[in-house]
Amino acid sequence: MPETITEPSSVDDVVAGLRSVGYLPGSSTALVSYLAIKLGKPVLVEGPAGVGKTELAKALARYLGRTLVRLQCYEGLDEAKALYEWNYKKQLLRIQTEAGETGWREVQDDIFGEEFLLPRPLMTAISSPDPVVLLIDEIDKTDQEFEAMLLELLSEFQISIPELGRIEARTQPVVLLTSNNTRELTEALKRRCLYLWLDYPETEHELEIVRLHSPDLDETLARKLVEIIHQVRELDLKKPPSIAESIDWARALLLLGADEIDGETFKQTMSVIVKHRTDMDTVAARVGVALQQADAA
Ligand SMILES: Nc1ncnc2c1ncn2[C@@H]1O[C@H](COP(=O)(O)OP(=O)(O)OP(=O)(O)O)[C@@H](O)[C@H]1O
Ligand SMILES: [Mg+2]
Repeated sequence: MPETITEPSSVDDVVAGLRSVGYLPGSSTALVSYLAIKLGKPVLVEGPAGVGKTELAKALARYLGRTLVRLQCYEGLDEAKALYEWNYKKQLLRIQTEAGETGWREVQDDIFGEEFLLPRPLMTAISSPDPVVLLIDEIDKTDQEFEAMLLELLSEFQISIPELGRIEARTQPVVLLTSNNTRELTEALKRRCLYLWLDYPETEHELEIVRLHSPDLDETLARKLVEIIHQVRELDLKKPPSIAESIDWARALLLLGADEIDGETFKQTMSVIVKHRTDMDTVAARVGVALQQADAA
């Protein structure tokens, strides 16, 4: 449970704060995060897999000293799993206990009270007494109906429950929605959000991220690793390696005690960064062979 609540007063504060919790933001990341906190607007974070979309929400929660409430989206996700459900078992028990003694009307009023609600992530975020960071992860996996339901929440910060009425947010959450772009999101949703496009970082930025995660890796080796990753990304691949792969590769090399990325090391560890059969062939032919030639020279 986080102890101290932080409130940034400049973009630089956000940069320093995110860094202090192990997230190295690019300049637009820090700016958009600052605006989101100050304007109370949700952020839609898009970009390829493994570039730090989910981690940004986690890092913001750590930095701001807020609890992270996460809704992982998937196909078929419905309100009952995202917002709230009635606790049928508890309702039934109450009905059975009170049967005979009380009239139906009283029991009915009773069993549709807050006590019988099972809050799911969206409701938890809205009703929390302390402000939270709400992560709605991989929103593109849900359907448009679900998006429509989110609109009320994102614009008004309130939820309507037919039996109970409106539940308004007690505190303003910082909301991040992430998407891998597997489908186009509706304009209505986009209009309500600030937009952050996260891409693969520049060499120096990625080097810093890799070194943060693997401080024991030799600097020259880390630089070579990042340069190779950037070369591999230039190729026409099904799945280019992301920051996540760079970090994994650095850890693997460290574990194996490698002191150089030569042709042989590359061949052995390539599967850490390339994860499609056809991509393997392309990368071996273009990058692997070049490394072997450099070894021979
Ligand atoms: N700017 C950064 N600073 C520090 N670590 C980072 C940064 N960006 C990414 N990472 C690291 O990269 C890894 C992948 O990040 P994350 O899981 O957030 O990616 P993602 O964009 O959510 O991917 P996916 O779309 O597959 O869910 C994590 O281990 C994260 O810590
Ligand atoms: Mg993610």
